[in-house]
Amino acid sequence: MQTIFSGIQPSGTLTIGNFLGAIQHFVGLQEENNCYFCIVDEHAITVPQDRLKLRNNIRSLAALYIASGIDPEKSTLFIQSEVPAHTQLGWMLQSISYIGELERMTQFKDKSKGGKEAVSSALLTYPPLMASDILLYKTDVVPVGEDQKQHLELTRNLAERFNNKFNDIFTVPEVSIPKVGARIMSLQDPTKKMSKSDENEKAFISMLDEPKRIEKKIKSAVTDSDGIVKFDKENKPGISNLLTIHASCSGKSIETLEATYADKGYGAFKMDTAQAVIDVLKPIQDRYHELINSEVLDDILDAGANKASYDANKTLRKAKKAMGLGRVKKKRK
Ligand code: TYM
Repeated sequence: MQTIFSGIQPSGTLTIGNFLGAIQHFVGLQEENNCYFCIVDEHAITVPQDRLKLRNNIRSLAALYIASGIDPEKSTLFIQSEVPAHTQLGWMLQSISYIGELERMTQFKDKSKGGKEAVSSALLTYPPLMASDILLYKTDVVPVGEDQKQHLELTRNLAERFNNKFNDIFTVPEVSIPKVGARIMSLQDPTKKMSKSDENEKAFISMLDEPKRIEKKIKSAVTDSDGIVKFDKENKPGISNLLTIHASCSGKSIETLEATYADKGYGAFKMDTAQAVIDVLKPIQDRYHELINSEVLDDILDAGANKASYDANKTLRKAKKAMGLGRVKKKRK
């Protein structure tokens, strides 16, 4: 049995990208592993958030995890800010992170393009907090989409650096990235990653979009004019992205789909792609609406925070001791 950890930011309603690149794979992992799934709200505040929207997004993400198949009997589901050990170890890991390596993170470079005066310092120190999330649970494997690869490399470096410098406390985690669906692209600009914080709503499919909306968004997805349904990321990024979405949702291979639509136009292909997405999302949406206002959700998150705190504190105590923080109490005479 291995320990699995992954997290998702509550920075908007999840997209089909989050589902196909991450959640879908979490569900299968629960059967034979010790899994922790986290709503990383402290990561979300590295960029400005509306207080009420953030609260709603946190609850909504918890419900979506469960509606997608995360079983609280098998996995520990919790909110990051309800387990203080995350920021505590995050701070300790910042002390062994170098500004240079943090400034080289692609996500920091992208988000600070407008100038460093305009972004929070937490955006720079985001990766040591992410490393803390992972390392607190002695995680063996972290299932994520492709965009998180660089953060995982830094996590491994920080774990090794800490172990060499102080004491062998942390497990050095492996990253697990799916073969298909690790990078779902924007429907409006298929050279860009699909993102839940995209300003153009037509660029992404939200997990809570109604069937009609899904159809509309896929119909208006940017493709090309040569009319051939073929996977070619470089020359046909739009069609390749839709093929990936269709294959991941229907379980069919890309080759089978290419053969099926060889003599059909983009119209039929897009309609069927939309249907494949709807077939996956509809049952999740139904369960979501049953859960979102229920007290059961609170019970699950309370139990998750208790279990996670207990496990995280064990590692935190060892890491503090290794670094020389706190004190050793004198024996009473
Ligand atoms: P976040 O919230 O941006 O995304 C959550 C998960 O969804 C994957 N993902 C995608 N996969 C395929 N195609 C896409 N277009 C797409 N967009 C997102 C992400 O790779 C991720 O697996 N830093 C993380 C959150 C985090 C975390 C952690 C993850 C914090 N601590 C510890 C793992 C372990 C993030 O911003 O993910």
